[in-house]
Amino acid sequence: MKRSRKFAAGLSLAASTLALALAVATPAPAQTASAQPWMNPTLSPDQRAALLVKDMTPDEKLSLVHGVMALPFFFGGKLPEGAIGSAGYIPGIARLGIPHQQESDASLGVTNPLMIRPGDYATALPSSLLLAATFNTKIAYDGGAVVGQEAWAKGINVQLAGGVDLARDPRNGRNFEYAGEDPWLAGNIVGESIRGIQDQHVISTVKHYAINDQETGRNYVNSVIDEQAMRESDLLAFEIAIEKGQPGSVMCSYNLVNGAYACGNSHLLNDVLKRDWGYKGYVMSDWGAVKATDFAVKGLDQQSGEQLDKEVWFGAPLKEAIDKGEIPAARLTDMAQRILRSMFAAGLFDHPQPAPVFGDKGYDAAAHAEVAKAEAEEGIVLLKNEGGILPLAKSAKTILVVGGHADAGVISGGGSSQVVADPNQVAIAQGGDGMMAAFSKINYHPSSPLKALRAALPQTQISFDVGNYPEEVARKAKNADLVIIFATQWMGEGADAPNLNLPDGQNALIQAAAEANPHTVVVLETGGAVNMPWLDKVPAVVEAWYSGQKGGEAISDILTGASNPSGHLPVTFPASLDQYPRSGPLPGIDLPDGQQFDVSYDEGADVGYKRFIKLGMKPLYPFGYGLSYTSFSYSDLKVSGGDTLTVSFTVTNTGDVAGKAAPQVYLNRTPNEALKRLIGFSKVALKPGESQTVTLSADPRLLAHFDAKANTWSVAGGAYAVAVAQDAEDPGVSGSASVRARQIKP
Ligand code: BGC
Repeated sequence: MKRSRKFAAGLSLAASTLALALAVATPAPAQTASAQPWMNPTLSPDQRAALLVKDMTPDEKLSLVHGVMALPFFFGGKLPEGAIGSAGYIPGIARLGIPHQQESDASLGVTNPLMIRPGDYATALPSSLLLAATFNTKIAYDGGAVVGQEAWAKGINVQLAGGVDLARDPRNGRNFEYAGEDPWLAGNIVGESIRGIQDQHVISTVKHYAINDQETGRNYVNSVIDEQAMRESDLLAFEIAIEKGQPGSVMCSYNLVNGAYACGNSHLLNDVLKRDWGYKGYVMSDWGAVKATDFAVKGLDQQSGEQLDKEVWFGAPLKEAIDKGEIPAARLTDMAQRILRSMFAAGLFDHPQPAPVFGDKGYDAAAHAEVAKAEAEEGIVLLKNEGGILPLAKSAKTILVVGGHADAGVISGGGSSQVVADPNQVAIAQGGDGMMAAFSKINYHPSSPLKALRAALPQTQISFDVGNYPEEVARKAKNADLVIIFATQWMGEGADAPNLNLPDGQNALIQAAAEANPHTVVVLETGGAVNMPWLDKVPAVVEAWYSGQKGGEAISDILTGASNPSGHLPVTFPASLDQYPRSGPLPGIDLPDGQQFDVSYDEGADVGYKRFIKLGMKPLYPFGYGLSYTSFSYSDLKVSGGDTLTVSFTVTNTGDVAGKAAPQVYLNRTPNEALKRLIGFSKVALKPGESQTVTLSADPRLLAHFDAKANTWSVAGGAYAVAVAQDAEDPGVSGSASVRARQIKP
């Protein structure tokens, strides 16, 4: 297992738990509109940033383009003046009314690394992968708004959220922080969550740009992928997320892409992001990802977590390079102006934050907990339900609950995105041995599925076995009407899983329970896809992912039918790892630290289900799959063409309970080739017997190929075949229409 320098630094950080000065005011806002014309809110963010940067000295500009990791270890136990303590800090400029930039992780809530803000905690949302499984952009927005509001109350104004790298390898330790394997789904979900954050006057990032698709050797891995393939896959996810969410910042990643470090990759930053996509915000580096001053000319605007780099490249060395004429002064102006533009656009100047308040103060914590619960309920996926064993019959007399620390809580993912809902109530914090403790603890949120089930089924006698001994579980399972077995898999930043097996002998435990009792329900709490060697022995499987601070209650509601499952897989669940292009040991796993290596993404844009379908491989469960306690039908399909495809159809709840359908529109064929792509999705709540018409128009880029030579999206003219389906393998109802040939400039 290789860890980044950040994680290495985290080693010693763990030792430092000094109390800090907390209440930190931002610099005084501007005094008069005439003295500070950029404070005129009727001007555009571009105009305001241009006016402001004109008044700045070179040193002032320089002060905006690099920042520290705001943890006291680096400052002899004291934070820099003005910092509240968080992942990063860039001081403001009082003379000009420029606020400090207080940066915090991440997409799942506002983190408090090393308890740097004593007593502070935040709402812990489910994993982003669970969020993607909701197929519901409104829930994504609502979750973003929760994060944004809490950040704002705590004095954070830059939230390092918006992870959107595609799940190319199911072992990637950070897949849980991302939104799955499809660019349209991931881009929309992440874009909406960014929009939710920024509507609270907090800048959000989108990250980690780009092709940061494994953690193993993340500082040295060179992602090799051709231009067309990346434009149609990982970069498309970023492009869509940026269009929808307008994030103030893009965080470039640790890895190299086609030979150049992502944060010094002129093609990715200058050509694609800033030129082709017209991105007006700023590029910040990941923490410790800058290697040289000339990254500034390659398109990087801000060096973050500078203590982790060899030098503060964007400090004195940048000044010197500008003085010597090696880097144009105009570049520094542009860097500062881009940062200011995002600050104006998100409202940092017009909505100054009050003095920060910590704990769950300054926002409606109960309402936020409900958002966390609603998200969990919609993202939990019912994978198998033979003989309608779920929802649990209220008449069951005895239930044995086994394993997964279900008596205490639900597991969460590790690393910089780890939110601790309430430090006084962490159910279990395992592992994180010695100096690695800070970032690799296995935290369980104190939301016990066992307790929730007991509350929901007071007539049923529910017993619990921790699941240490398969023999003991088998013995008890024989005497129960039904068994619910919880299995957990911890994933975290800085390391990938070596394989897709559930750890700690949990497969043997499930096997033993299933053999002893045919009414065994498995609840998985995993970072992504796992093997299920016992699948044909159990009648029901529920994928609950990392379900956040209300996960236990949400799981219980799904199991009892208080909530009807409506989550759908945002990643393929393979029959085995062998079905993936890289199924051997993780690339680079055995190389010495510091040695660069290539990972060739030869599957190109055929990520996940696209490759499964192209190669005719049968997964365990396909992308988009998910069951419900009701059933839905799709009918009256109308497909029209022209500039793009517009698909309209009727969704009907044909069962006898209310539920939510997640209709998915797939492209099956272009005029020239068989091509499977998700081109639209929706989430529709329906009462029994109720119908609704849904109309979706395809983003024309999803019908096109990217012509790398002409640097344009090229849509072939002719007939396009589509289907409205329940998942990527379902033939669904199909139709076709003719689309005219066109070129679309990115
Ligand atoms: C992670 C980022 C995170 C940053 C600041 C890095 O190690 O890759 O996702 O935002 O640290 O904590």
